[in-house]
Amino acid sequence: MIRNVRNRTPLRRFMTVSILLGAILAAAPAFAQLTDADVEKIPAGAQPIKFSHRIHAGENQIDCQYCHIYARRSSTSGAPPVAICVGCHKFVATDLAEVKKVMGYWERKEPIPWVKIHDVPDFVRFPHHKHLNANNETFPDGVACQACHGPIETMDVVEKADPKFGLMGWCLNCHLEIPGTLERKRAIASTTDPKKLKNYMHPSGTYVRPNLTDCLTCHY
Ligand code: HEC
Ligand code: HEC
Ligand code: HEC
Ligand code: HEC
Ligand code: HEC
Repeated sequence: MIRNVRNRTPLRRFMTVSILLGAILAAAPAFAQLTDADVEKIPAGAQPIKFSHRIHAGENQIDCQYCHIYARRSSTSGAPPVAICVGCHKFVATDLAEVKKVMGYWERKEPIPWVKIHDVPDFVRFPHHKHLNANNETFPDGVACQACHGPIETMDVVEKADPKFGLMGWCLNCHLEIPGTLERKRAIASTTDPKKLKNYMHPSGTYVRPNLTDCLTCHY
């Protein structure tokens, strides 16, 4: 059984306005708690910057999609553009050596070469947005990041929460948990009657839900 956890809502809504954040921080530098020695203790992963989800998404409760801005809109979720980091780090923890490295990439106009951890082969179609915007009995509010990626907000170094992550059986196990998946497959296969197909429409009314176990749903 895969647990669906709701996405965190941003505790600090003011973070959406980085200028305002700057003003607040200038008045009360409440964030500047970490020292280089603390950052030293964070385990080094494969990444070019010691970026900790525990500190950002955990302790500081920054919403996943504040940084992963493409997740809801496109197939790839992607690493955040450096501009998003700079929006905060122009003001926050500017003394830390690791933060200076971030600003270095920004000044040189270079993307940070993050190493990809979660990956499926190119012959597989995995649309993030379709999952986040899902609306069915099992996932009325979409599939939460954590249902697939685990408790990322507790991790200093991102790793796969489940060794089976991304395998075909892992995908199918969840698709088969969605009630009516197989019935829908049979019904859609056996009718072209638009009235009957209506029962299988996405609530947006714009398309018939795909057959979640069909080879061509996931393979090109
Ligand atoms: C919404 C504000 C915000 C954004 C956006 C943000 N950070 Fe941070 N970052 C923080 C805060 C707050 C801390 C903790 C500072 C402290 O406690 O002294 C922090 C700490 C850090 C640290 C030191 C601790 C650690 O994680 O190793 C690094 C490095 C860092 N950030 C890198 C980044 C990078 C890279 C990005 C962009 C992908 C980014 N930050 C985006 C607010 C932000
Ligand atoms: C402050 C910005 C920021 C926030 C907030 C944030 N992330 Fe990230 N995320 C990053 C950066 C930078 C990377 C690339 C470096 C890494 O892997 O740690 C990343 C990497 C990841 C990866 C691994 C990507 C890969 O290569 O496989 C996943 C999964 C992920 N984030 C999920 C989440 C989830 C879920 C949340 C909310 C609980 C979240 N992130 C919140 C910046 C952020
Ligand atoms: C239904 C499962 C599922 C959900 C829900 C999900 N992911 Fe992913 N995520 C994946 C898979 C599978 C990959 C590998 C995709 C690929 O290689 O094409 C991935 C890859 C990523 C990556 C690496 C870059 C990329 O896009 O390939 C990031 C970052 C990421 N996810 C963040 C998130 C965040 C943030 C959320 C929530 C807003 C989220 N994911 C929700 C399954 C999921
Ligand atoms: C935690 C549950 C879960 C996991 C794991 C999962 N999915 Fe899904 N998938 C869903 C849900 C929910 C939907 C939306 C169904 C709907 O609209 O009714 C969906 C829809 C899809 C769609 C259809 C998109 C469309 O509408 O055209 C594709 C393609 C897909 N998933 C591929 C994958 C692949 C590939 C994997 C594994 C790498 C995977 N999924 C893993 C729950 C999951
Ligand atoms: C829900 C998504 C999904 C569906 C549906 C699906 N696959 Fe896959 N398939 C994957 C993923 C993800 C991989 C890559 C990971 C792996 O090899 O397990 C994969 C890998 C494969 C591979 C390569 C295996 C290898 O060892 O390289 C074949 C062949 C394949 N699928 C055939 C099929 C056939 C035939 C069907 C229909 C009966 C099907 N798939 C339906 C997601 C799916």
